Amino acid sequence: MRRTEIKQIQQGEKADYEVKVNGWVRTFRNNQFIALNDGSTLSTLQVVVDRESLDESLIKRITTGACISATGKVVESQGRGQKYEVVASSVEILGDSDPEKYPLQPKRHSMEFLREIAHLRFRTNTFGAIFRIRHHISYAIHKFFNDRGFFYMHSPIITGSDAEGAGEMFRVTALDINNPPKTEDGAIDFSKDFFGKETNLTVSGQLEAELAALALSKVYTFGPTFRAENSNTSRHLAEFWMIEPEVAFNDLNDNMDLAEDMLKYVVKYIIDNCDEDLEFLQTRLENEEKNKPQKDRSPMPLKEKLAFCVENDFVRLTYTEAINILRNSKPNKKGKFQFPIEGFGADLQSEHERYLVEKHFKKPVILTDYPKDIKAFYMRMNDDGTTVRAMDILFPGIGEIIGGSQREERLEVLLGRMEEMDIPEEEMEWFLDTRRYGTCVHSGFGLGFERLVLFITGMTNIRDVIPFPRYPGSAEF
Ligand code: 4AD
Ligand code: MG
Repeated sequence: MRRTEIKQIQQGEKADYEVKVNGWVRTFRNNQFIALNDGSTLSTLQVVVDRESLDESLIKRITTGACISATGKVVESQGRGQKYEVVASSVEILGDSDPEKYPLQPKRHSMEFLREIAHLRFRTNTFGAIFRIRHHISYAIHKFFNDRGFFYMHSPIITGSDAEGAGEMFRVTALDINNPPKTEDGAIDFSKDFFGKETNLTVSGQLEAELAALALSKVYTFGPTFRAENSNTSRHLAEFWMIEPEVAFNDLNDNMDLAEDMLKYVVKYIIDNCDEDLEFLQTRLENEEKNKPQKDRSPMPLKEKLAFCVENDFVRLTYTEAINILRNSKPNKKGKFQFPIEGFGADLQSEHERYLVEKHFKKPVILTDYPKDIKAFYMRMNDDGTTVRAMDILFPGIGEIIGGSQREERLEVLLGRMEEMDIPEEEMEWFLDTRRYGTCVHSGFGLGFERLVLFITGMTNIRDVIPFPRYPGSAEF
C-alpha cells in the first residue's frame, strides 16, 4: 500500500477508507493516541491504536521522535481541532528514538537552544512552518519573474572580481596555507593558485546580471552570496540568498515599481497559500510578545501586517527629504539616536531607518537619491553631481530589505567614478565593454531573501529563517 500524506487526509472531504501513513511521533497519550506529523502540513494526525491488539513491546517503542508507519481506517474525529483521525489496525516502527536521549521534548524550547540543534529543529511546529513558507516564498519569486518574461540567470559563486565593494569577501584558494608559493618580493603568488589569480566568494551577482540584461533585457539571479563582515546582528548573515533582477531600458521609477510589485505579489501569494502556517506563526509571535512592554510589541498581528503591506502604497521620498525629517525628529533633538543626524551625507543606521518606517510614516518606505559618497561606483550620477540614482526599500521591523539603483550607463562618467574610487580599470574591462558597445539605460536591485522571510514569518532573528545559519564564530552542520 502506498503512503498517503497527512495533508491529503486533513484536506480531503471523506472518511471510511484505508490508508497507510508514515511520520514522526510528536506525542503518545494514554498508550492510545499518537500525534503524528509528516511535515506535509503543520497539523498532526491523530492515530488511535488498540491497546489490546498491539504487542506491549511494540507500544513501548512508540515514543516522541520515533518514525512509524501506521495502517488503518480514516474516520471522522470525535476530538477537537481535527476533522479526521486514523484508527490503526497495524503499526510498524521504522526508526526508534530513545525518549531519554531525544533532545526535543514535547514542551516549549527557546530559539537559542533550538539553534544549537538545528539538525533537529525542522521537527518543531515553528521551524516546520518557517521552512514550508520559505519554500513558498522562493517559488512565488520565480513565478513572479517567469510570468513577466524574465530569465533566471545563474551568476558565478566563485569570482575573480571584487569591485562591487558591497562587503568583505571570503577568499577561495587551493594553495597550501602552511606553505604557499611566494613571489620574489615575498608576497603570496596567486598565479600558482587554482585559477591562476586571486578569487573570492561572490558578494553579489549584479555585475554579471548587468551583462546578461544588456542582451536578454530582463533577467534575475537567485543565489547564495557571502559577506565576511563582522556584523553580529539579528539582521545579518555571512551566507545569505539574494534575488537580483536587472532590466534594460528601466529607469529608477520603473525599478521602484518593479520592486514594490514584486514584494506585494510575494506577500499576497503567502497570504493566499500558507494560511495555516501563518496563523500558527501569528499566535507564536503574540505569545512571545506577551512578556514585552507594550512599546516593544508589534503594532499589528502578523496577518494584518502582511495585508497592510499589500494594500498600501509604499512612501517614496529622497534621502535629502529623509535627512530633514530625521534632523527635526524628537529622538534626534533629545539625543536619543546613537548616531545623531547632523545633515546631508550621514549614512543612515538601522535606528534611523526604523524611525522613518515605524514611527514617522508607519509604512514601507523607498528612499532615493543618496549621496554618491556612501554608495557604490556603478550608480547613475544625478545632474547635481553629488547624489546618485540609488534606492533602498525599508520595511517595518526589518530596516533595509532591498538595495538597488539605476546604473551609470555613460562610459565617461563611469570611468570618472571608478578613478575617484580607486577601482582599477584593467580589472573591469569586461564590465566596461557593455558601456562601449550598445549601452543603454538600465536598473536593478537586490532583495535579501532571508530579510523577506523574516518579515513574512514574524520571526525576530535572521538565524532562525535559514536552515543552517553562518555568522561570525559559527558554521555548524
Ligand atoms: O544593499 P546590498 O549590498 O546591494 C547589493 O549587493 C547590490 N549589488 C544589489 C543590486 O543592486 N543588484 O544588498 C542587497 C540586499 C540588502 O538590501 C539586504 O536586504 C540584503 O541584501 N543583505 C543582507 N542580508 C543578510 N545578511 C547580510 N549580511 C546582508 N547584506 C545585505
Ligand atoms: Mg544596501
